[in-house]
Amino acid sequence: MIVLGIETSCDETGVALCSDLKVISSYTKTQSIHEKYGGVVPEVASREHEKFLPGITKKVIKEANISLNDIDYIAVTNGPGLMGSLLSGISFAKGLSQGLGIPLIPVNHLEAHLNSVFIEHQNLKPPFINLLVSGGHTQLWIVKGLFDYELIGETLDDACGEAFDKGAKKLKLKYPGGPEIEKLAINGDKNKINFPRPLKDDKTYNYSFSGLKTSLINCVDKDIYENKDIAASYQEAIVDSLIIKFNKALKNYNINTGIICGGVAANKRLRDKLKKLDSEIIYPSMKYCTDNADMIAYLAELKVKNNNIDVTKNFTAYSRGMVV
Ligand code: KG4
Ligand code: ZN
Repeated sequence: MIVLGIETSCDETGVALCSDLKVISSYTKTQSIHEKYGGVVPEVASREHEKFLPGITKKVIKEANISLNDIDYIAVTNGPGLMGSLLSGISFAKGLSQGLGIPLIPVNHLEAHLNSVFIEHQNLKPPFINLLVSGGHTQLWIVKGLFDYELIGETLDDACGEAFDKGAKKLKLKYPGGPEIEKLAINGDKNKINFPRPLKDDKTYNYSFSGLKTSLINCVDKDIYENKDIAASYQEAIVDSLIIKFNKALKNYNINTGIICGGVAANKRLRDKLKKLDSEIIYPSMKYCTDNADMIAYLAELKVKNNNIDVTKNFTAYSRGMVV
């Protein structure tokens, strides 16, 4: 079975081919055009997806050494994400599926992230706790079994990646801000400013980053501290906040394996601090942590193989939530 997956939920245009639960070819194009705007511009993102999809699709098919007619299913992210971006991918996917006369499978982007760890760790057995940390999401999930998930906590306002990005903007750094803050923080003093660890002591597994971001804005406006110290202290507060709830979930649910995915999983300070936890922490390769079509094609094939999907059902795009 060969599944062609398409991912266009935000500013990554991805196409991948999966066969027998192995990715045989894939390409992810990060749209650099947004850098100059300091964040993703939705309308621009949709147009970029439309521009890139045909070429990337041709490329992955050629690299896998197959022809269009060898493909059995088309899979596409239908949410959550930016509406226009999703619709660009869905329109392209629908065209392909109708032209080839093969079924079209809708894939939930978050469910794909949760399962992406299996691409490289096929023998990993649930349960595990998954911390999904990206520009759009900060969520804690328990993966209990195959297609069995429970959301136990999430951010009540900004995502942690957004906190990095908005903090970076205030510090006049480039977008995306996470890697920029990380770089600036290397020579900074992480203990210089005692930024809050929001919701640290509350009983839930929820997160909150908007107050922390406001603290940073106030701190920069005071003009007392050096930017490198602000960056290091701010990064430390975000990382601590993430780890406190993650560790609490691992302990309280008595689960020994934690997974981290999403763009913020690249953060070295986060990785260093996670080494101190008692649990085993798995990081999918960065290409699977960030948005990619590999996870879309993979999850679609996994669902078909396990009779977990009705490919005749009609579907639409949705901007928020987990509709599985
Ligand atoms: O998963 P991702 O590539 O895209 C989505 O948001 O879906 O995540 C992007 C986010 C951005 O907010 C970016 O600033 C953050 O991940 N990020 C980082 C690092 N690399 C990327 N945050 C902290 N440290 C990093 N090294
Ligand atoms: Zn994502």
